[in-house]
Amino acid sequence: MNSFEFYNPVKILFGEGKVDEIANEIPEDAVVLITYGGGSIKKNGVYQKVMNALKGFKVVEFGGIEPNPKYEDLMKAVDYARKEQVTFLLAVGGGSVIDGTKFIAAAVPFTGDPWNLLVGGKAFTVENALPIGTVLTLPATGSEMNSGAVVSRKSTQEKYSFGSPLLYPKFSVLDPTFTYSLPETQVANGVIDAFIHVTEQYLTYPDQAHIQDRWSEGVLQTLVELGPQAISNPLNYDVRSNIMWSCTMALNGILSVGVPTDWATHMIGHELTAFFGLDHAITLAIILPSLLRTMRDEKKLKLLQYGKRVWGIETGTDDIRVDKAIEATEKFFQSMGIKTRFADYGITIDQLKPIVERFKQRGWKLGENKTITSDIIEAILKGAL
Ligand code: NZQ
Ligand code: ZN
Repeated sequence: MNSFEFYNPVKILFGEGKVDEIANEIPEDAVVLITYGGGSIKKNGVYQKVMNALKGFKVVEFGGIEPNPKYEDLMKAVDYARKEQVTFLLAVGGGSVIDGTKFIAAAVPFTGDPWNLLVGGKAFTVENALPIGTVLTLPATGSEMNSGAVVSRKSTQEKYSFGSPLLYPKFSVLDPTFTYSLPETQVANGVIDAFIHVTEQYLTYPDQAHIQDRWSEGVLQTLVELGPQAISNPLNYDVRSNIMWSCTMALNGILSVGVPTDWATHMIGHELTAFFGLDHAITLAIILPSLLRTMRDEKKLKLLQYGKRVWGIETGTDDIRVDKAIEATEKFFQSMGIKTRFADYGITIDQLKPIVERFKQRGWKLGENKTITSDIIEAILKGAL
């Protein structure tokens, strides 16, 4: 196990009705900006519950944050927050609303063009940020309990992540009943996103991190067992609770302490969203199986462990067991109703060339061993046609 520091200050308010307690977590004299997406919170009653809980506060709002939040739209919220002299941000929604709100939090006090927070490197780290709280409505990204955010720019078809300890939410409300209204495809997206957050931190090479391995396997097994039930039995509180907490645990930092991490699937996936607008989880479901096949030698020991402990695969040669583990993974995504090949989305190899070119220009080397070059990315993309 590698040396590490672990810090996560997010207060979790978990359970039905917990939103009623948020007034205790926000300074009395705060000017609160509620941020939300395209309106699902108005249809399912979450908006009204949040407004009731904020009685007595000065509240303004900014809605319409799209999935894969866009810099161009978020800058409108930044202007508005400055004009209204907002002092606290409350994100009510999924990962896109929460990420967008983290960007707003960092951008409001920032001097200069806040896009530099995403692309400017170390010279533009977050030195100040408005405090934020979140009310989660879509278990998936873990953004409610981490300090990262991903923001896209329409004009250049780019999607980048950034982060800072200053962007940890002060609190996050996780009420499983708020997820009852999710469409099936968003439930599937969430389960698959969380599943692949775990594999990015687990399917690397053995590092004598026994407890982290067991935690990861526990989250994966829970998602495999309960993911399909969240779709077939959507109003089951226990199922929704376990899915919600699994998704948060998948990316709140606890699984990655002291172990190597990969993240290549995410980096390639972000480009697919930037170019084709595919949902985040769909990009991952396309890339991961092909990445595992391409990198199977480097990942062999962990793939064998994963096959045995998560899927019960114990017979056959090493090669056969690795094949079976990858196949089980891809089949699981498909069983959740998510298609895993580019052809399913009408995307051809020619359309993927600009992505390979972009990685070539950046010269990035991805993966736990930094061996995934643009040539290997090309092989991974071809393997997913
Ligand atoms: O916009 P509304 O009307 O709210 O509808 C949303 C949206 O259309 C809907 N939805 C959310 N909660 C609902 C609901 N519909 C009915 N009932 C509810 N309770 O779901 C749709 C998708 O929402 P979105 O927030 O885009 O999904 P998700 O949570 O999957 O977030 C995806 C974004 O998070 C980023 C992704 O890249 C993507 O931009 N990620 C953020 C990470 C982080 N901060 O740590 C890590 C992840 O790997 C990921 O990259
Ligand atoms: Zn993700």
